[in-house]
Amino acid sequence: MAEASSQVDIAERIARLRAEINYHAYRYYTLDDPIISDAEYDQLMQELRRLEEAHPELITPDSPTQRVGAPPRPEFRKVIHPVPMTSLSNAFNEEDMRAWLMRIRRLLPEDLPAEELAFVVEPKFDGLAVALTYEGGILVRGATRGDGIEGEDVTENLRTVKNIPLRIPVAPDGPPAPERIEVRGEVYLPIADFNQLNQEQMAKGERLYANPRNAAAGSVRQLDSRITARRRLAFFAYAIGYLEGGPSFTSHWDALMYLKELGFPVSQDIRRTHDFEEVLRFIREWGERRDHLPYEADGVVIKVDSLALQQRLGIVGNAPRWAIAYKFPPREATTRVLSIEVNVGRTGVLTPYAVLEPVNVGGVTVRQATLHNFEDLMRKDIRVGDTVIVVRAGDVIPQVVKPILERRPPDSKPYAMPTHCPSCGEPVVKPEGEVAVYCVNAACPAQLVRRVEHFVSRSAMDIVGFGERIAEQLIEAGLISDVGDIYTLKDKRERLLQLEGFGEKKVDNLLKAIEASKQQPLEHLVAALGIPGVGSIVAKTLAEHFLSLDALAAATEEELQRVESIGPEIARSVVDWFARPRHQEVLRKLRAAGVRTEAALRTAAGGAAPLRGLSFVITGTLPTLSRDQARALIEAAGGKVTESVSRKTDYLVLGENPGSKLQRARELGIKIIDEATLRQMIGAQ
Ligand code: IVH
Repeated sequence: MAEASSQVDIAERIARLRAEINYHAYRYYTLDDPIISDAEYDQLMQELRRLEEAHPELITPDSPTQRVGAPPRPEFRKVIHPVPMTSLSNAFNEEDMRAWLMRIRRLLPEDLPAEELAFVVEPKFDGLAVALTYEGGILVRGATRGDGIEGEDVTENLRTVKNIPLRIPVAPDGPPAPERIEVRGEVYLPIADFNQLNQEQMAKGERLYANPRNAAAGSVRQLDSRITARRRLAFFAYAIGYLEGGPSFTSHWDALMYLKELGFPVSQDIRRTHDFEEVLRFIREWGERRDHLPYEADGVVIKVDSLALQQRLGIVGNAPRWAIAYKFPPREATTRVLSIEVNVGRTGVLTPYAVLEPVNVGGVTVRQATLHNFEDLMRKDIRVGDTVIVVRAGDVIPQVVKPILERRPPDSKPYAMPTHCPSCGEPVVKPEGEVAVYCVNAACPAQLVRRVEHFVSRSAMDIVGFGERIAEQLIEAGLISDVGDIYTLKDKRERLLQLEGFGEKKVDNLLKAIEASKQQPLEHLVAALGIPGVGSIVAKTLAEHFLSLDALAAATEEELQRVESIGPEIARSVVDWFARPRHQEVLRKLRAAGVRTEAALRTAAGGAAPLRGLSFVITGTLPTLSRDQARALIEAAGGKVTESVSRKTDYLVLGENPGSKLQRARELGIKIIDEATLRQMIGAQ
C-alpha cells in the first residue's frame, strides 16, 4: 500500500517537474525571457532524469527528456496531409503586388468597405515547412510538407526542436488545449548556428551546407534524430491547418494570437493593416532589415486577414489566391575570380579566399568570397580567371559555390597550394587526417593580429575602440607580443603617443577601455582566450560549470566531458590549450594585471544579492559601462535585465540618447536611475 502511494507521489512529482521544465524552456527559447538561472533549470532536468531512470515505465513522449532523439530508422513513414499544404504564388516587385490586389478586388463584392479588406504581413522564413498535430494537447505527429499532399513522418526529429511545444498549453494560464489541432510553420536554422554548424562540418572534413535552408532541411530529414537534436533548430508557427474542439476565429490574425497563447513561437515581426500602401511600405522596410535578422528570410508573405474572404477567394492550382509571397532578389550571382589569396587565422589555419570582380548579390556588392579550405578549393577546381557562382545568406560570408566550366579560359591553370605562410614565410604544415593547413610559427604576426582582434571583440573582452588597425600597429611597433601584453600598455603611454593617429584623448580612451575590460564576466574571458572549438556558447557553459579560470585550467578531459554538451573534441582542445607554456605565460600576465578570473557569485550559492527580485531595463549609452557589462553587474547582484519596459519593471537605468523606453517608463511611473545610482545599489565603487 505504502509503495503504491509512493508510486503515485513519484508520478505526481514527475508531472509537476515536466510542466515546470516545459514552462521554463518556453520562457527561454520562445519568449527569450527566462525567469530562472541555467543552473536551476539544469537541476530540475537532473531530478526528472533521475526519477525517469528509476521509473522507466513513467516515461512519456511529451517529457522534456525526450528531446534528445532516438536511434536511427531505415526510412521515414509517409503521411497524407488531411488538409493539403499549398504553396504560394510569387511577386517580385510593387507592380506584381498591385496586380495581385486588383485580381482579388475583382473577386470580392464591389461594395466591400476598404477597411474590411485587411492584410497580415509576415516574414517568409526560409527553412522547411512542417505540420504538427496535437491530440488532447500532446504532440502526436510532425510531418514535412513533401509535395503538399503527402509528406514524411519526422515526429522524432521535430521533438528535438527546443521551441516546438511537446504539450499545450505551455503556460499555466494558457487557454485549454483543443481536442485536435494541426499547427503549420517553418523549421529553420538561425544564421549564427548555421555558421557554427558549417565550421564544425569543416573541422570534421564533412560537406558544407550552402545555406541555412539546406542545413535545416538536412537536419530535419536525418534518419538519426540524435543528430537533429544537436543542431540548434527553431520553429515559427504561421498557420492552423485544422482545429477541432476549440475556439473558432474570423481572422488569420486571431488564429496567430491563439497559437501564441497556446505557447507556439509566433514571429514578433508580423503586422496587420488595411492600408495597401502600408503593406508596400512594410515590404520595403523588410528588404532593408533582411540582412540584419538572426534568421534567413527570402521574402515577405502577404495574407488576406479575414477567413471569410479567404474562403471566397479560394485556391487556384496549388496556391491560394488570398496570399502571395513577395520574393527578395536572389542571393546568388555569377562573377569572375581575379585572384586567389590566403588568410592566416588566429590558430594559424590558412584559409583561401577569392578576390572577385565586384558583383551585386541580393543587394550587396561582393568583392571577396571564402573558399573554405584547400581541399574544398581543389575538389571544386576553382581557378583564377574562372567565372563562378557566388552565394550569400544574411550576414553569412559570401562563398564560391562552383566554377562554370563552359566559361573557363583555355589557358587557365589549376591552383597550386601554398608551401609557405604568406605572412611570416615559414613552411606550412598539414597534420595527418586534418583538412586544415597550418602555419605553426608561434611568432607569426598575422596570427597575433587575429588573436588580438578576437580577444578585444564584443563577445570577448569587449575593449571598445580597439580594432584590427590598432592591433596591427601595436604588433608592428613591438608593443605587444601576446594578448596578455594588452594590460601592460598603461605603462607604455609615451610610446603609444608616438604611434600614427594616436593623440592624448585616443590613448586615454583606449587605456580606460582596457582597464574596464578586466571586470568582464568569466565567460567572456574564457571566450577571449580563443581555444579552438570554444565559442561564446561553450565558454558560457564552461564558466558556469567551473566558476573560475583556475578550476577550468586544472580540469582533465574526463571532467570536461562530464559537463553537458561538452564532447571529447572540445575537452581535448581545452586541455591542450592550457598545457602549452605559451598560453600559461598569457594567463600569468592576465592574472598579474588583475583581470577577473572568477565567476560572479551566483545568488543561488548564497552570495550577496542586493538586487534579488528586481527587474531592470537599460536604455541609452551609460557613461562607463557597456550594455553587456551593466547586464553582468546587475545579474551578478541577483537582479534581472529585460529588453522592454513593462509593469513588472522595477528600474529603468538611463544613459545618454535614450530610446522610446524612457517614455514608456514614465507612462508607467517606473523609477528611473543612472549608472552611479545603480553602482550604489550594488555597493560597487
Ligand atoms: S503560408 C497558404 N506563411 O513558403 C499559405 N508560408 O510557398 C501557405 N513560408 O514552404 C503557407 N514563411 O513553408 C506561409 N509566413 C509564412 C511563411 C511561409 C515561409 C513557406 C512555406 C512554404 C512556402 C510556400
